Amino acid sequence: MDTLETRIAIKRLHPLFVAEVTGIDLTVPVPREDFRVIWDAFNEHQILVFRDQHFDDESQIAFSRHFGTLETMIAHPGNDWNPGHISVMTNLGKDGNFLPPDHPAMLHRERNEAWHSDSSFKPVAALASLLASRIVPPVGGNTDFASARAAYEALPAERKAALEGLTALHRMTYRDMDNDKGYKEEDKQRHVVTHPVIRTNPVNGRKALYVGSHAQEIVGMPPAEGASLLDELTAFCTQPQFVYSHHWRDGDAVMWDNRCTLHRATTFDKTQYKRKLHRTTIAGKTPDSAFARMPGA
Ligand SMILES: [Fe+2]
Repeated sequence: MDTLETRIAIKRLHPLFVAEVTGIDLTVPVPREDFRVIWDAFNEHQILVFRDQHFDDESQIAFSRHFGTLETMIAHPGNDWNPGHISVMTNLGKDGNFLPPDHPAMLHRERNEAWHSDSSFKPVAALASLLASRIVPPVGGNTDFASARAAYEALPAERKAALEGLTALHRMTYRDMDNDKGYKEEDKQRHVVTHPVIRTNPVNGRKALYVGSHAQEIVGMPPAEGASLLDELTAFCTQPQFVYSHHWRDGDAVMWDNRCTLHRATTFDKTQYKRKLHRTTIAGKTPDSAFARMPGA
């Protein structure tokens, strides 16, 4: 008889992070002891790749709920104004046909091509995201991941000390998207929060840089100076040695730890190939931040 140890296998896909988990079907109820193996692997490896998981929305939501409460997305162009637990990443309309490149949903989704951590603009930032394939392009459309934990650990001791205690202001809108019409003005102002620049995983004490496109200013620093520092840290995290690029195959599902990784979508021929991925997002458990006053206040 198979034992738990021999049935679930975990194989590292990158020298610093990312593991492929095999030997488990996530589309059916997952026993508690199996979830424990996944949870431990998630905290250790930061990104988990599962193959041959043919989720539908119901089974994806059911598995995601093991990790905690799911975020409910507000209605916005990226989900065709349908609030719910599923975010759809696609170049297709509801009719299954290609959307024109200038469609608001397409423009909105282009934001995902900047490095970011999901929901870092929320007061309780996301713990994890699970992105599962529905339709994958044969070429391009990868998701790139960067280990902000490995990057932090590679910093010189004096740099770590200098960053300790800094707080960044995060906005839902990206820095260069101030004039974007995809969000209502009141939502732009509502989603302004602060988070520490260095986050610690409470399970294992490992620290990571918490930066990316939503992080836009450093509290107590002139805005341009803070933005420059945050850009430098994001660039540091996303150097090739800290990056894993996931090429999507049919049946793939990838779960990532938003506390210690950054990710971005890569482009593909959006007029030739269809791509559809569904995301669930697991909320964090405790606020490690508070709503900030408006910038400059
Ligand atoms: Fe994302």
